[in-house]
Amino acid sequence: MHSDYARDYAGGMSYIADSERYSSMPYVRCGNSGLLLPRVSLGLWNNFGNDRDFETQRAIVRRAFDRGVTHFDLANNYGPPPGSAERNFGEILRQDFADYRDEMIISSKAGFDMWPGPYGEWGSRKYVLASLDQSLKRLGLDYVDIFYSHRPDPNTPMEETMGALVTALDSGRALYIGLSNYDAAQTTDALAILEDMGVPLLIHQPRYNFFDRRLEDGLLDVLRENRIGSIVYSPLAQGLATDRYLNGIPDDSRIRLTHWLDDSVVSETYLEHARALNEIALQRGQSLAQMAVTWTLRHPEVTSSLVGASSVAQLDANLDAALAAPLTAEELAAIEPHAVHALVDAWLSE
Ligand SMILES: NC(=O)c1ccc[n+]([C@@H]2O[C@H](COP(=O)([O-])OP(=O)(O)OC[C@H]3O[C@@H](n4cnc5c(N)ncnc54)[C@H](OP(=O)(O)O)[C@@H]3O)[C@@H](O)[C@H]2O)c1
Repeated sequence: MHSDYARDYAGGMSYIADSERYSSMPYVRCGNSGLLLPRVSLGLWNNFGNDRDFETQRAIVRRAFDRGVTHFDLANNYGPPPGSAERNFGEILRQDFADYRDEMIISSKAGFDMWPGPYGEWGSRKYVLASLDQSLKRLGLDYVDIFYSHRPDPNTPMEETMGALVTALDSGRALYIGLSNYDAAQTTDALAILEDMGVPLLIHQPRYNFFDRRLEDGLLDVLRENRIGSIVYSPLAQGLATDRYLNGIPDDSRIRLTHWLDDSVVSETYLEHARALNEIALQRGQSLAQMAVTWTLRHPEVTSSLVGASSVAQLDANLDAALAAPLTAEELAAIEPHAVHALVDAWLSE
C-alpha cells in the first residue's frame, strides 16, 4: 500500500503549503519556555501505521499544516507495526515538507516496548538513547524538537532516565525534553533532578479527557507551580468523547480496527452520558468532539490539545475547536455530572 505507489504518485504532486496557514490558529507559549505551540496539535499514534492508506495519511498531515498545525507528535512504537508511523511520517516529510522543517515541531518518545530483550523498553540510558537514534533514522531527521520519556520506570533510577534525556539535548539530537505519563509526585522528583542538572523541562504530556481526569488530581498544581506547559493526549477519549458511537459501532472505527478499545466500552451508562454531553455540545453550536477539545483547553496549564484523526474531515472539525469560545460557567456545570472519571477505563479507579 505504502512506498512504491506513494513514491510514483509523488512525482507529479508537489506540495506548496497554504500561504494563509498562520492566519487563524492561535499559538500559546509552552510554560515559561520560548516555544509557542498551536492550540490543537496532531498525533500519529493510530491512523499512520502500515495498516492505513498512505495517501490519506499524507492528506491529513498536509491539511493540518495548511491550517497552522505546526506540531506533530510521534513515538518509537506508533504503528502498527511499531516504528511504521515514524517511517511513514518520515516519507511524508521527505516528499512534501523538505522546505518546511524549520516551521515544524516534531516530537518522539521512548519508554514502551519496542524491541526484544532487556534493552527494548522502559528507562535505561541504553534503551532511551538507542531508541532515539532509531527514531531519527526512521524519520530521516538529524534531530527531533521534543524528546520524551514516555513513561516512568520504577526500576531505573530517575537520575539515569533524566540523564539520558539531557544527553539527547547536549548531543543535539533533541531541542527540548518532555515527560509523559508521570504522575504529580514522579514529575516533582524528575523536576528536582533536572534542576540539579541545570536543564529545564519543556512540557508534560498526560492523558486528559471527560473520562480520565487524573490530571486534575495534583499534576495541574505541579505544572502551574513550576511553570511547565502541557499537551494533553487523547482529548477525544479515542473517539468515545465524540458522536462516533452514539448509533452503533461503525466498521471503520477504532473499536473495530484496533485492539486499544473493544465493544464493552459502549455500555448503556456510557451512552447515557455521551448523549447528554452531545446535547450540551449541540446547544452551544459545537459537535461533541469539538466541545471535548474545548473542555481540555480550559485550564491555563494546558498549552495544546493533542488530537488524532482518521480522516481530513475529522481533523478539520477538531481544528475548529481551537477557535471556539470558552465554555461558560453554566456549560461547565452542565458537563460536570457527565464527565465521569473512569467511565470507560475501569482500571482508572483501581
Ligand atoms: N503519551 C502517551 O502515552 C500517548 C498515548 C496515547 C496517545 N498519545 C498521543 O495523543 C494523540 C492522540 O491520541 P488519540 O488518537 O487517542 O486521540 P483522540 O483525539 O482522543 O482520538 C482520536 C480518534 O477519535 C476519532 N475522532 C477524531 N476526530 C473525530 C471527530 N471530529 N468526530 C468523530 N470522531 C473523531 C477517530 O476515531 P476513528 O479512528 O474511530 O475514526 C480518531 O482516530 C496520539 O496520536 C499520540 O500522539 C500519547
